[in-house]
Amino acid sequence: MADNDILAELEELQRASLAELESAQDEPGLQAWRVANMGRSAPVMQVFSRLPQFPKELRPKIGQQANQVKVALEAAFAQKSEEIRQAELARSLQSDRLDITLPGRRPVYGRYSVQTLIMREIYRVFGDMGFQVYRSPDVEEDETNFTLLNIPPHHPARDMQDTFHTTEPGVILRTHTSPGQIRAMREYAPEPIRVMLPGMCYRYEQIDARHEAQFYQVELLAVDKGITFGNLKATLDDFARRMFGSSVQTRLRPDYFPFTEPSAEMDIECFVCGGKGCVVCKNSGWLEILGCGMVHPVVLQNGGYDPREWSGFAAGLGPERVSMLRYRIDDIRNFWSSDVRFLEQF
Ligand code: FA5
Repeated sequence: MADNDILAELEELQRASLAELESAQDEPGLQAWRVANMGRSAPVMQVFSRLPQFPKELRPKIGQQANQVKVALEAAFAQKSEEIRQAELARSLQSDRLDITLPGRRPVYGRYSVQTLIMREIYRVFGDMGFQVYRSPDVEEDETNFTLLNIPPHHPARDMQDTFHTTEPGVILRTHTSPGQIRAMREYAPEPIRVMLPGMCYRYEQIDARHEAQFYQVELLAVDKGITFGNLKATLDDFARRMFGSSVQTRLRPDYFPFTEPSAEMDIECFVCGGKGCVVCKNSGWLEILGCGMVHPVVLQNGGYDPREWSGFAAGLGPERVSMLRYRIDDIRNFWSSDVRFLEQF
Protein backbone atom coordinates (compact mmCIF):
# COMPACT_ATOMS: atom_id res chain seq x y z
CA MET A 1 0.00 0.00 0.00
CA ALA A 2 1.37 3.45 -0.88
CA ASP A 3 2.10 5.69 2.02
CA ASN A 4 -0.28 8.28 0.58
CA ASP A 5 -3.08 5.75 0.67
CA ILE A 6 -2.70 5.10 4.36
CA LEU A 7 -2.40 8.80 5.19
CA ALA A 8 -5.54 9.48 3.17
CA GLU A 9 -7.23 6.57 4.91
CA LEU A 10 -6.37 8.07 8.33
CA GLU A 11 -7.71 11.43 7.25
CA GLU A 12 -10.94 9.84 6.07
CA LEU A 13 -11.14 7.81 9.29
CA GLN A 14 -10.96 10.97 11.37
CA ARG A 15 -13.58 12.73 9.30
CA ALA A 16 -16.01 9.78 9.40
CA SER A 17 -15.53 9.20 13.13
CA LEU A 18 -16.08 12.83 13.99
CA ALA A 19 -19.20 12.92 11.80
CA GLU A 20 -20.52 9.82 13.54
CA LEU A 21 -19.79 11.40 16.94
CA GLU A 22 -21.88 14.42 15.99
CA SER A 23 -24.98 12.24 15.74
CA ALA A 24 -24.57 10.73 19.26
CA GLN A 25 -27.55 11.98 21.31
CA ASP A 26 -27.12 10.51 24.74
CA GLU A 27 -24.81 8.61 27.09
CA PRO A 28 -25.48 5.11 25.60
CA GLY A 29 -24.90 6.45 22.06
CA LEU A 30 -21.69 8.08 23.23
CA GLN A 31 -20.40 4.90 24.82
CA ALA A 32 -21.22 2.85 21.69
CA TRP A 33 -19.22 5.38 19.63
CA ARG A 34 -16.27 5.17 22.03
CA VAL A 35 -16.06 1.38 21.76
CA ALA A 36 -16.32 1.45 17.97
CA ASN A 37 -13.90 4.34 17.38
CA MET A 38 -11.48 4.29 20.26
CA GLY A 39 -11.66 0.66 21.45
CA ARG A 40 -8.94 -1.95 20.90
CA SER A 41 -10.35 -3.07 17.55
CA ALA A 42 -11.17 0.46 16.33
CA PRO A 43 -9.67 1.20 12.81
CA VAL A 44 -7.22 3.79 14.13
CA MET A 45 -5.92 1.31 16.70
CA GLN A 46 -5.57 -1.26 13.95
CA VAL A 47 -3.22 1.13 12.09
CA PHE A 48 -0.81 0.96 15.06
CA SER A 49 -0.76 -2.82 14.95
CA ARG A 50 -0.31 -2.75 11.18
CA LEU A 51 2.75 -0.43 11.37
CA PRO A 52 5.35 -3.24 10.86
CA GLN A 53 3.79 -3.92 7.46
CA PHE A 54 4.80 -0.46 6.20
CA PRO A 55 8.27 0.43 4.88
CA LYS A 56 10.55 1.29 7.73
CA GLU A 57 11.18 4.90 6.63
CA LEU A 58 7.44 5.62 6.44
CA ARG A 59 6.54 4.18 9.81
CA PRO A 60 7.31 7.34 11.89
CA LYS A 61 5.14 9.52 9.69
CA ILE A 62 2.22 7.05 9.68
CA GLY A 63 2.54 6.51 13.44
CA GLN A 64 2.59 10.25 14.03
CA GLN A 65 -0.48 10.76 11.85
CA ALA A 66 -2.37 7.89 13.54
CA ASN A 67 -1.51 9.39 16.90
CA GLN A 68 -2.87 12.77 15.86
CA VAL A 69 -6.13 11.12 14.79
CA LYS A 70 -6.35 9.30 18.14
CA VAL A 71 -5.74 12.55 20.08
CA ALA A 72 -8.30 14.40 17.97
CA LEU A 73 -10.89 11.68 18.58
CA GLU A 74 -10.21 11.72 22.34
CA ALA A 75 -10.58 15.50 22.49
CA ALA A 76 -13.81 15.39 20.47
CA PHE A 77 -15.14 12.63 22.71
CA ALA A 78 -14.41 14.64 25.89
CA GLN A 79 -16.10 17.70 24.46
CA LYS A 80 -19.15 15.75 23.28
CA SER A 81 -19.43 14.02 26.67
CA GLU A 82 -19.58 17.38 28.40
CA GLU A 83 -22.18 18.67 25.91
CA ILE A 84 -24.41 15.63 26.49
CA ARG A 85 -24.04 15.88 30.28
CA GLN A 86 -25.04 19.55 30.19
CA ALA A 87 -27.99 18.82 27.88
CA GLU A 88 -29.24 16.03 30.16
CA LEU A 89 -28.92 18.26 33.21
CA ALA A 90 -30.89 21.02 31.48
CA ARG A 91 -33.55 18.49 30.44
CA SER A 92 -33.98 17.15 33.98
CA LEU A 93 -34.07 20.67 35.43
CA GLN A 94 -36.76 21.53 32.93
CA SER A 95 -38.92 18.46 33.64
CA ASP A 96 -38.47 18.47 37.48
CA ARG A 97 -38.92 22.19 37.78
CA LEU A 98 -40.09 23.41 41.20
CA ASP A 99 -42.96 25.85 40.75
CA ILE A 100 -42.80 28.06 43.81
CA THR A 101 -45.90 29.95 42.69
CA LEU A 102 -48.15 26.87 43.26
CA PRO A 103 -50.32 27.15 46.37
CA GLY A 104 -48.85 25.14 49.29
CA ARG A 105 -50.54 22.18 50.96
CA ARG A 106 -51.74 23.10 54.41
CA PRO A 107 -50.54 20.78 57.19
CA VAL A 108 -53.38 19.12 59.07
CA TYR A 109 -53.32 20.38 62.64
CA GLY A 110 -54.47 18.17 65.48
CA ARG A 111 -56.53 19.83 68.17
CA TYR A 112 -57.43 19.35 71.78
CA SER A 113 -60.42 17.18 72.53
CA VAL A 114 -63.34 18.84 74.22
CA GLN A 115 -62.52 16.77 77.32
CA THR A 116 -59.06 18.26 77.61
CA LEU A 117 -60.38 21.78 77.03
CA ILE A 118 -63.06 21.53 79.70
CA MET A 119 -60.74 19.85 82.23
CA ARG A 120 -58.19 22.63 81.77
CA GLU A 121 -60.89 25.23 82.26
CA ILE A 122 -62.10 23.54 85.44
CA TYR A 123 -58.50 23.40 86.73
CA ARG A 124 -58.11 27.10 86.00
CA VAL A 125 -61.32 28.13 87.75
CA PHE A 126 -60.71 26.06 90.89
CA GLY A 127 -56.98 26.79 90.71
CA ASP A 128 -57.76 30.53 90.92
CA MET A 129 -59.67 29.77 94.14
CA GLY A 130 -56.62 28.07 95.65
CA PHE A 131 -57.34 24.38 94.91
CA GLN A 132 -54.41 22.20 93.81
CA VAL A 133 -54.63 19.10 91.62
CA TYR A 134 -54.20 15.87 93.60
CA ARG A 135 -54.14 12.58 91.69
CA SER A 136 -55.32 9.27 93.07
CA PRO A 137 -55.35 5.83 91.39
CA ASP A 138 -57.97 4.53 88.94
CA VAL A 139 -57.64 1.03 90.40
CA GLU A 140 -58.82 1.29 93.99
CA GLU A 141 -59.38 -0.78 97.06
CA ASP A 142 -62.96 -1.52 97.96
CA GLU A 143 -62.07 -0.21 101.42
CA THR A 144 -61.10 3.28 100.15
CA ASN A 145 -63.79 3.50 97.47
CA PHE A 146 -66.59 2.53 99.88
CA THR A 147 -65.89 1.48 103.49
CA LEU A 148 -63.76 4.46 104.59
CA LEU A 149 -66.30 6.73 102.91
CA ASN A 150 -68.89 5.50 105.38
CA ILE A 151 -70.31 2.85 103.03
CA PRO A 152 -69.67 -0.46 104.84
CA PRO A 153 -70.04 -3.83 103.04
CA HIS A 154 -73.68 -4.69 102.36
CA HIS A 155 -74.75 -1.07 102.87
CA PRO A 156 -77.59 -0.35 100.41
CA ALA A 157 -75.75 2.78 99.20
CA ARG A 158 -73.31 0.49 97.35
CA ASP A 159 -76.13 -0.11 94.86
CA MET A 160 -75.98 3.56 93.86
CA GLN A 161 -72.74 2.83 91.98
CA ASP A 162 -72.60 -0.48 90.09
CA THR A 163 -69.00 -1.58 90.32
CA PHE A 164 -66.42 -3.22 88.03
CA HIS A 165 -64.52 -5.78 90.14
CA THR A 166 -61.10 -7.20 89.28
CA THR A 167 -60.09 -10.83 89.80
CA GLU A 168 -58.19 -9.67 92.89
CA PRO A 169 -60.55 -9.73 95.89
CA GLY A 170 -61.16 -6.24 97.27
CA VAL A 171 -59.63 -4.50 94.21
CA ILE A 172 -62.01 -2.56 91.97
CA LEU A 173 -62.08 0.22 89.37
CA ARG A 174 -62.98 3.40 91.23
CA THR A 175 -66.64 4.29 90.81
CA HIS A 176 -66.08 7.93 91.76
CA THR A 177 -63.20 10.25 92.67
CA SER A 178 -64.27 10.44 96.34
CA PRO A 179 -61.74 7.78 97.52
CA GLY A 180 -59.13 10.43 96.69
CA GLN A 181 -60.54 12.39 99.65
CA ILE A 182 -59.30 9.68 102.02
CA ARG A 183 -55.89 9.52 100.31
CA ALA A 184 -55.42 13.32 100.37
CA MET A 185 -56.56 13.61 104.02
CA ARG A 186 -54.24 10.81 105.12
CA GLU A 187 -51.36 12.51 103.33
CA TYR A 188 -51.98 16.03 104.67
CA ALA A 189 -53.54 15.49 108.16
CA PRO A 190 -53.51 17.48 110.34
CA GLU A 191 -52.98 20.41 107.92
CA PRO A 192 -55.72 22.36 106.12
CA ILE A 193 -56.50 21.01 102.62
CA ARG A 194 -57.76 22.54 99.39
CA VAL A 195 -57.51 20.03 96.54
CA MET A 196 -59.27 19.06 93.34
CA LEU A 197 -59.10 15.41 92.36
CA PRO A 198 -59.60 14.78 88.65
CA GLY A 199 -59.85 11.34 87.12
CA MET A 200 -61.65 8.67 85.15
CA CYS A 201 -64.42 6.74 86.90
CA TYR A 202 -65.94 3.42 85.92
CA ARG A 203 -69.44 2.10 86.52
CA TYR A 204 -71.29 -0.89 85.19
CA GLU A 205 -73.95 1.42 83.78
CA GLN A 206 -76.80 1.06 81.35
CA ILE A 207 -75.35 3.41 78.72
CA ASP A 208 -77.68 6.14 77.43
CA ALA A 209 -77.56 9.78 76.30
CA ARG A 210 -76.49 10.97 79.77
CA HIS A 211 -74.69 7.91 81.22
CA GLU A 212 -71.42 6.29 80.17
CA ALA A 213 -69.60 3.31 81.71
CA GLN A 214 -66.43 5.41 81.75
CA PHE A 215 -66.54 9.12 82.53
CA TYR A 216 -64.54 11.85 84.22
CA GLN A 217 -65.19 13.38 87.59
CA VAL A 218 -63.49 16.26 89.34
CA GLU A 219 -63.73 16.07 93.11
CA LEU A 220 -63.31 19.11 95.31
CA LEU A 221 -62.19 18.86 98.92
CA ALA A 222 -61.61 21.61 101.46
CA VAL A 223 -60.79 20.77 105.08
CA ASP A 224 -60.06 23.45 107.66
CA LYS A 225 -61.23 24.78 110.99
CA GLY A 226 -64.56 26.58 110.65
CA ILE A 227 -65.56 25.60 107.10
CA THR A 228 -69.33 25.96 106.58
CA PHE A 229 -72.01 25.04 104.07
CA GLY A 230 -71.97 28.74 103.10
CA ASN A 231 -68.35 28.32 101.89
CA LEU A 232 -69.44 25.33 99.79
CA LYS A 233 -72.33 27.21 98.21
CA ALA A 234 -70.23 30.31 97.47
CA THR A 235 -67.48 28.19 95.88
CA LEU A 236 -69.91 26.29 93.64
CA ASP A 237 -71.89 29.40 92.67
CA ASP A 238 -68.67 31.14 91.69
CA PHE A 239 -67.65 28.09 89.66
CA ALA A 240 -71.02 28.02 87.85
CA ARG A 241 -70.85 31.73 87.03
CA ARG A 242 -67.33 31.43 85.65
CA MET A 243 -68.18 28.34 83.58
CA PHE A 244 -71.63 29.32 82.29
CA GLY A 245 -71.78 33.12 82.54
CA SER A 246 -72.66 35.60 85.28
CA SER A 247 -76.43 35.37 84.77
CA VAL A 248 -76.66 31.58 85.26
CA GLN A 249 -79.24 30.43 87.81
CA THR A 250 -78.23 27.65 90.22
CA ARG A 251 -80.01 25.74 92.95
CA LEU A 252 -78.96 23.27 95.63
CA ARG A 253 -81.34 20.39 96.18
CA PRO A 254 -81.18 18.18 99.31
CA ASP A 255 -79.84 14.74 98.48
CA TYR A 256 -78.18 11.80 100.16
CA PHE A 257 -74.54 10.65 100.03
CA PRO A 258 -73.18 8.47 102.86
CA PHE A 259 -69.91 10.42 102.95
CA THR A 260 -71.41 13.92 103.35
CA GLU A 261 -73.92 15.35 105.82
CA PRO A 262 -75.87 17.36 104.89
CA SER A 263 -75.71 16.45 101.19
CA ALA A 264 -77.03 18.20 98.12
CA GLU A 265 -77.05 18.16 94.36
CA MET A 266 -76.46 21.29 92.37
CA ASP A 267 -78.58 22.07 89.33
CA ILE A 268 -78.19 24.83 86.81
CA GLU A 269 -81.01 26.32 84.80
CA CYS A 270 -81.72 24.36 81.60
CA PHE A 271 -79.91 26.04 78.70
CA VAL A 272 -82.44 24.78 76.14
CA CYS A 273 -85.71 26.10 77.59
CA GLY A 274 -84.35 28.75 79.96
CA GLY A 275 -86.08 27.06 82.89
CA LYS A 276 -89.55 26.67 81.33
CA GLY A 277 -89.32 22.88 81.01
CA CYS A 278 -88.47 20.73 77.97
CA VAL A 279 -87.41 17.19 77.00
CA VAL A 280 -83.73 17.81 77.78
CA CYS A 281 -84.45 18.77 81.41
CA LYS A 282 -87.38 16.35 81.63
CA ASN A 283 -89.72 19.31 82.15
CA SER A 284 -88.05 20.32 85.40
CA GLY A 285 -86.30 23.43 84.03
CA TRP A 286 -83.06 22.32 85.78
CA LEU A 287 -80.03 20.15 84.91
CA GLU A 288 -77.94 18.37 87.53
CA ILE A 289 -74.16 18.87 87.34
CA LEU A 290 -72.73 17.72 90.67
CA GLY A 291 -73.18 16.16 94.08
CA CYS A 292 -71.81 17.83 97.20
CA GLY A 293 -72.04 18.26 100.96
CA MET A 294 -70.20 18.72 104.22
CA VAL A 295 -67.65 15.96 104.81
CA HIS A 296 -69.22 13.38 107.15
CA PRO A 297 -67.58 13.24 110.64
CA VAL A 298 -66.83 9.53 110.14
CA VAL A 299 -64.97 10.32 106.91
CA LEU A 300 -63.00 13.16 108.55
CA GLN A 301 -62.02 10.73 111.28
CA ASN A 302 -61.02 8.04 108.76
CA GLY A 303 -58.85 10.67 107.06
CA GLY A 304 -57.09 11.54 110.33
CA TYR A 305 -58.94 14.74 111.34
CA ASP A 306 -60.79 15.25 114.62
CA PRO A 307 -64.35 16.21 113.58
CA ARG A 308 -64.81 18.20 116.77
CA GLU A 309 -62.12 20.63 115.57
CA TRP A 310 -62.14 20.28 111.82
CA SER A 311 -64.84 20.51 109.17
CA GLY A 312 -64.82 20.31 105.42
CA PHE A 313 -66.83 20.37 102.24
CA ALA A 314 -66.63 18.11 99.22
CA ALA A 315 -68.18 18.05 95.75
CA GLY A 316 -68.00 15.73 92.77
CA LEU A 317 -68.83 17.05 89.33
CA GLY A 318 -69.04 15.45 85.91
CA PRO A 319 -66.95 17.33 83.29
CA GLU A 320 -68.85 15.62 80.45
CA ARG A 321 -72.10 16.98 81.83
CA VAL A 322 -70.49 20.42 82.09
CA SER A 323 -69.33 20.19 78.44
CA MET A 324 -72.80 19.05 77.37
CA LEU A 325 -74.32 22.15 78.91
CA ARG A 326 -71.58 24.46 77.74
CA TYR A 327 -71.48 23.28 74.11
CA ARG A 328 -75.07 21.97 73.84
CA ILE A 329 -74.00 18.38 73.21
CA ASP A 330 -77.11 16.23 73.36
CA ASP A 331 -75.52 12.78 73.77
CA ILE A 332 -72.66 11.78 76.09
CA ARG A 333 -71.74 8.89 73.75
CA ASN A 334 -70.24 11.45 71.32
CA PHE A 335 -67.23 11.86 73.64
CA TRP A 336 -66.04 8.32 72.90
CA SER A 337 -67.26 8.04 69.32
CA SER A 338 -63.96 9.21 67.73
CA ASP A 339 -66.12 10.91 65.12
CA VAL A 340 -63.93 13.57 63.53
CA ARG A 341 -66.99 15.68 62.63
CA PHE A 342 -67.72 15.91 66.36
CA LEU A 343 -64.13 16.49 67.44
CA GLU A 344 -63.52 19.20 64.82
CA GLN A 345 -66.15 21.46 66.33
CA PHE A 346 -64.03 22.41 69.33
C1 FA5 B 1 -70.83 10.76 93.19
O1 FA5 B 1 -70.14 10.10 92.44
C2 FA5 B 1 -70.29 11.38 94.43
N1 FA5 B 1 -69.00 10.81 94.71
C3 FA5 B 1 -70.20 12.87 94.28
C4 FA5 B 1 -69.93 13.59 95.54
C5 FA5 B 1 -68.63 13.94 95.87
C6 FA5 B 1 -70.95 13.89 96.42
C7 FA5 B 1 -68.35 14.59 97.03
C8 FA5 B 1 -70.69 14.52 97.62
C9 FA5 B 1 -69.39 14.90 97.91
P1 FA5 B 1 -72.87 10.84 91.57
O2 FA5 B 1 -73.00 9.41 91.38
O3 FA5 B 1 -74.12 11.65 91.59
O4 FA5 B 1 -72.09 11.17 92.88
O5 FA5 B 1 -71.93 11.43 90.43
C10 FA5 B 1 -71.46 12.76 90.45
C11 FA5 B 1 -71.47 13.35 89.04
O6 FA5 B 1 -70.74 12.49 88.17
C12 FA5 B 1 -72.88 13.42 88.43
O7 FA5 B 1 -73.50 14.61 88.80
C13 FA5 B 1 -72.56 13.37 86.97
O8 FA5 B 1 -72.17 14.67 86.53
C14 FA5 B 1 -71.36 12.47 86.89
N2 FA5 B 1 -71.75 11.09 86.58
C15 FA5 B 1 -72.18 10.14 87.39
N3 FA5 B 1 -72.45 9.00 86.74
C16 FA5 B 1 -72.15 9.23 85.45
C17 FA5 B 1 -72.21 8.44 84.26
N4 FA5 B 1 -72.56 7.18 84.26
N5 FA5 B 1 -71.84 9.02 83.10
C18 FA5 B 1 -71.43 10.31 83.09
N6 FA5 B 1 -71.37 11.11 84.16
C19 FA5 B 1 -71.73 10.58 85.34
